[in-house]
Amino acid sequence: MDALITLLPGDGIGPEVTKSGQSVLETIGEEFGHNFTFSRQHIGGSGIDHCNDPLPSDTVSSCNESNAVILGAVGGPKWDNPNAKIRPEQGLLGLRAALKVFANIRPVKIIPSLSKASPLKEHLLKNVDLLVIRELTGGIYFGEKQRNDSSASDLCIYHNYEVERIIRFAANLAKSRRNKLCSVDKANVLETSRLWRDVTTKIMASEFSSINIEHILVDAAAMYLISRPADFDVIVTENMFGDILTDEASMLSGSMGMLPSASLGDGRVGLYEPIHGSAPDIAGKGIANPCGMIGSVALLLRHSLDLQEEADLLEKAIYDAIENGARTADIATNNEKILSTEEMTQVITNCLVK
Ligand SMILES: NC(=O)c1ccc[n+]([C@@H]2O[C@H](COP(=O)([O-])OP(=O)(O)OC[C@H]3O[C@@H](n4cnc5c(N)ncnc54)[C@H](O)[C@@H]3O)[C@@H](O)[C@H]2O)c1
Repeated sequence: MDALITLLPGDGIGPEVTKSGQSVLETIGEEFGHNFTFSRQHIGGSGIDHCNDPLPSDTVSSCNESNAVILGAVGGPKWDNPNAKIRPEQGLLGLRAALKVFANIRPVKIIPSLSKASPLKEHLLKNVDLLVIRELTGGIYFGEKQRNDSSASDLCIYHNYEVERIIRFAANLAKSRRNKLCSVDKANVLETSRLWRDVTTKIMASEFSSINIEHILVDAAAMYLISRPADFDVIVTENMFGDILTDEASMLSGSMGMLPSASLGDGRVGLYEPIHGSAPDIAGKGIANPCGMIGSVALLLRHSLDLQEEADLLEKAIYDAIENGARTADIATNNEKILSTEEMTQVITNCLVK
């Protein structure tokens, strides 16, 4: 297969983990006879520095012409002036809107030998295998913002069609798993959540009556995620709740650096990025965990290129590397040897080659 992939390394550790993602894709290409070509573009702080724009038009054009997009991370203290008119995050939010990727998939699976890296007790992590579907292009992150000297506001709007399409998306995934869907909202307080719950109830009753649907308030969901995480299968929720709950869920797996994500939608192009940010505290040191990025590449192979065998092999390579003791600093416990980003990528690559 021939495929063009746009690489958006971005800021902080973004370029370091993106290099790992490109490297494993090249290895997959060599092993399976695929021809992957890459177009490297600016986004976020790097877009501001090079083009005075967090989402340069060349970046959007390249993404639209590609089969898929890989993004590292955006943001950092350099661009953190609260009064600045242009901010790195505008690049990421703008790209998600431009590619119309309304559904963000974040799988959380536990690799057994990493259970010591999680702050949770080991018995709570047994059988954890959940999928968070986060609505990505609506809600408070996209609503109108206002600020004056004494107050500020962020508008949260959800339209029926936005809720309908994300619930259908999540319910279809639930059908292919354990037939369990948990919808998370704050319907006791927020009007947008009451609409979310009404629309969800209707869609599930009329189109997915065989799926067991449960509604949980977001505060309770935050508690259950750490008190009984194995009970969840597919969780679907709105933009901000999903952002927060998936950072919490990342600690089940041991580190922010472990979790991948895929953003999909009506458009042709999928966006793949680890869930972590630019990690300014470790940027430039070569110690970032590349597993979240490499797992995102596996999702790219599966969802955008329909290369199931290659995706499974790459996920198994991450699993095998970790089960065989490979550790970056964020997931090392006791006296385990600590690998750099490059060394970790190499160990995973070694598990990949036949
Ligand atoms: N999608 C994105 O691009 C995205 C997401 C979240 C935050 N951000 C931005 O990133 C910057 C830093 O935000 P933050 O500190 O809240 O979150 P962060 O995810 O960057 O870092 C949180 C903690 O996790 C660690 N960490 C994250 N990824 C890691 C990895 N791969 N390997 C090892 N350790 C890792 C960091 O060192 C840090 O201690 C901010 O500017 C924020 O706006 C960007």
